[in-house]
Amino acid sequence: MHDVSAFPLEISGTPTPMVSFRKVTKSYGTLTVLDELDLDIAAGEMVSIIGPSGSGKTTVLRMLMTLEQINGGVIYVDGQPLTHMPKNGTLVPASQKHLRKRRADIGMCFQHFNLFPHMTALENCMEGPVQVLGLSKKEARERSEELLEMVGMIGKKDQHPSRLSGGQQQRVAIARALAMRPKVMLFDEVTSALDPEVIGEVTNVIRKLVSEHNLTMLMVTHQMGFARDISDRVCFFYGGKIEEQGPPAELFGNPKKERTQQFLSAVKEAV
Ligand SMILES: Nc1ncnc2c1ncn2[C@@H]1O[C@H](COP(=O)(O)OP(=O)(O)OP(=O)(O)O)[C@@H](O)[C@H]1O
Ligand SMILES: [Mg+2]
Repeated sequence: MHDVSAFPLEISGTPTPMVSFRKVTKSYGTLTVLDELDLDIAAGEMVSIIGPSGSGKTTVLRMLMTLEQINGGVIYVDGQPLTHMPKNGTLVPASQKHLRKRRADIGMCFQHFNLFPHMTALENCMEGPVQVLGLSKKEARERSEELLEMVGMIGKKDQHPSRLSGGQQQRVAIARALAMRPKVMLFDEVTSALDPEVIGEVTNVIRKLVSEHNLTMLMVTHQMGFARDISDRVCFFYGGKIEEQGPPAELFGNPKKERTQQFLSAVKEAV
């Protein structure tokens, strides 16, 4: 295990970021997918990740979900190392129990809405709060109904996923993730498997989260217009690193790096 103390979180004079990647490396065999990645996300910030296929965008989210171990560096969430835990005054690799607890801080929605098929929309939302957070069924139901209302799905709360459209399933998936009250929400191309006419249903829910809730969000998207509209910051990934980042108007309006320019003009042509 690599030395965590080499990557302290504190930078004097700045507030602690909600998410912090410090020199994070992830490799599969000889393929380096994340290359000493540094990325800080402030509490309440909405950051979009764009970039070519294979540049490591999904990997960033997978590492935050602790789905796999990183090979170097440290990830902090809300000031705590994610993959490590304190023991006898030092940091040691996290136990499964510690990881399960820390995972509750992070909610994720993927391209494919992996809802539990044998449960209704409401039961899907209640499952985590009851099983993982230990809420009573009554508390979990109240919380879930409120969120299903927020995503416009309360009228279909007793339907099973197979009876819902893609856009509807995705909205339930967002409510389900939010029911865990995560500190950070991750979205990975949540609209790319949807029919064009229902994309707006889902992007509107994300817009609402941005404008009405102070959630920290990290979103991978191929929808440049959407990223431009709602992000505080856009990061262009290339080869497992951030090639360029900045406020959307700057990155889209006046990209400085050649690779960013090439990517953005290729995407424009494809539309
Ligand atoms: N489990 C794995 N084993 C081996 N290689 C992997 C694994 N997961 C991802 N990779 C490789 O890591 C690289 C980055 O993958 P990642 O899924 O992060 O790309 P991405 O930027 O999300 O691309 P896309 O836009 O196509 O979704 C790719 O080259 C991919 O083949
Ligand atoms: Mg991906």
